[in-house]
Amino acid sequence: MNEKILIVDDEADILEAMYLLLTEEDYRVVKALGGNEAMDRFAAEDFDLVITDLKMPHPDGSEVMRKIRETDQDTEIIVLTGYASVETAVEALRDYNAFDYMNKPLDDINEMFIVIERALERKKLRTENRDLLDRLREYNATLEKRVEERTKDLKNARVEAELAARAKSDFLACMSHELRTPLSHIIGFSEIFLADHPGDDCVENILKSGRKLLGIIDDIITFASAGSGDIHLNYGKVDLKEILKQSEMMIRDEAAKKKISFVSKTENIPECIVADEYMLRQILYNLLSNARSEEHTGGKVEISAEKVLMGTETAVEFVVRDEGIGIASENLEQIFQPFVQLENYLTRRYYGTGLGLALAKKLTELHHGSIRAESEGTGKGALFRCIIPRTPPG
Ligand SMILES: Nc1ncnc2c1ncn2[C@@H]1O[C@H](COP(=O)(O)OP(=O)(O)OP(=O)(O)O)[C@@H](O)[C@H]1O
Ligand SMILES: [Mg+2]
Repeated sequence: MNEKILIVDDEADILEAMYLLLTEEDYRVVKALGGNEAMDRFAAEDFDLVITDLKMPHPDGSEVMRKIRETDQDTEIIVLTGYASVETAVEALRDYNAFDYMNKPLDDINEMFIVIERALERKKLRTENRDLLDRLREYNATLEKRVEERTKDLKNARVEAELAARAKSDFLACMSHELRTPLSHIIGFSEIFLADHPGDDCVENILKSGRKLLGIIDDIITFASAGSGDIHLNYGKVDLKEILKQSEMMIRDEAAKKKISFVSKTENIPECIVADEYMLRQILYNLLSNARSEEHTGGKVEISAEKVLMGTETAVEFVVRDEGIGIASENLEQIFQPFVQLENYLTRRYYGTGLGLALAKKLTELHHGSIRAESEGTGKGALFRCIIPRTPPG
């Protein structure tokens, strides 16, 4: 029990008697003889409780309480009063938020200690509440600061990501230029050379490898650009018969060399759709180009297009079917992942990069379409279905 109490009275003997009683109970007690001394002591030190007489020569108890409340709302106050001034004491409770009043003379000492204890308890609770409130405020402030910092971090991360994306597309643009330029020289000069010296095996090989390399570079660039959202489709009217014919031509020579027969079904297909012609050709080319591997296709490839419904909208379904090695059911989705190739490396006769189907899937999705593979199992051929809306949604 170490609470500090200021007792104020203009009568020295009452002051002394209270002082003795309270110090006996281990309180730290300070005496003030009259209002002026009380105000001086209060200004100089902190107290938990002030017990003040009400009736004193100027400044009286009310004046002391008014002065205290000018600067302090926490210290508890108990008013000492004669029976005659009970009404003023009640006013003090209201006006100066005093805790209670005690009648003079103080006959019931126990009662006095009970009131003092309760006042001190209220002070203690109030201080604890204040501490909690302060801690809460402090926590809120830190929280706000942390939210602010986090927002700043996120902003920075976004800026960094944007810079990284820009750096990536700059790199892609640069790479495509740097790689394609010398490669087109190789291809161009090989073609010129072959025109003058037809059948030169060596240069034919250079030309073939050059074209293949160009295809791989294009695939990587398109795939990376599609991944970073850098590809924007150039929608236009696409003649379906024409695009099927062109796709067949792209693959026909090589297919013929490998004795792969090619059937393209163009009867009853819608005349045209609205799509990005170049990208659509890439999709079909990638599906058909797997025909370069005869064990994939079993020597026979069929391509067709037909009108279907996608939800309530009209769409066109391209189907590329072969009679080759087929695909085990657990691999039907996996083959659309970039760089996934199924056969054992050593038994492979055609070395692609494993990007063809991943690219076809990305480009189909950019068109809001869908693509999937079907197969009855290994050795039973495969079928690829690519559905493209007849017109872009929205
Ligand atoms: N018609 C098919 N029949 C059986 N397996 C196929 C067929 N088409 C693709 N695959 C399997 O899916 C894999 C991935 O095909 P994808 O076209 O993505 O790559 P790739 O043909 O190996 O190389 P790239 O197309 O990049 O030159 C192939 O390696 C093959 O294992
Ligand atoms: Mg392929």
